[in-house]
Amino acid sequence: MSEIKVCNSEDLQEGGMAYRFNVLYNGESTSAFVVRVDNEVRSFLNRCSHVPVEMDWNYGEFLDDSGRVIVCATHGANYDATDGQCLGGPCAGSPLVRLHVSERAGEVFWKPADLVTVPPEGIED
Ligand code: FES
Repeated sequence: MSEIKVCNSEDLQEGGMAYRFNVLYNGESTSAFVVRVDNEVRSFLNRCSHVPVEMDWNYGEFLDDSGRVIVCATHGANYDATDGQCLGGPCAGSPLVRLHVSERAGEVFWKPADLVTVPPEGIED
């Protein structure tokens, strides 16, 4: 599958708000997000590994004050925002599902793959 533009680079501040977009995960409509951590774009399915619910505190807010940890709003699972690994809490060792994203010429792109694909209605959230 070819790459899809998700947002502009300037939409993502280091350790700041995420940019949400829609995906199909295993045939089911859900959301995903991209954040900038250590000046690299990182993207995950917006689905906690504890209970399959969205994790934002407020729309597009996932990171704690350090800007390096994703905290699930429901029961507080902690994930490493660089790779989605569980750092502690109810995720109990289970990581987030990671999406393939890259950045070039001021734009951020997602490469759909495996179980995470483009919904028929497009990715705009
Ligand atoms: S649903 Fe995320 S910690 Fe329970």
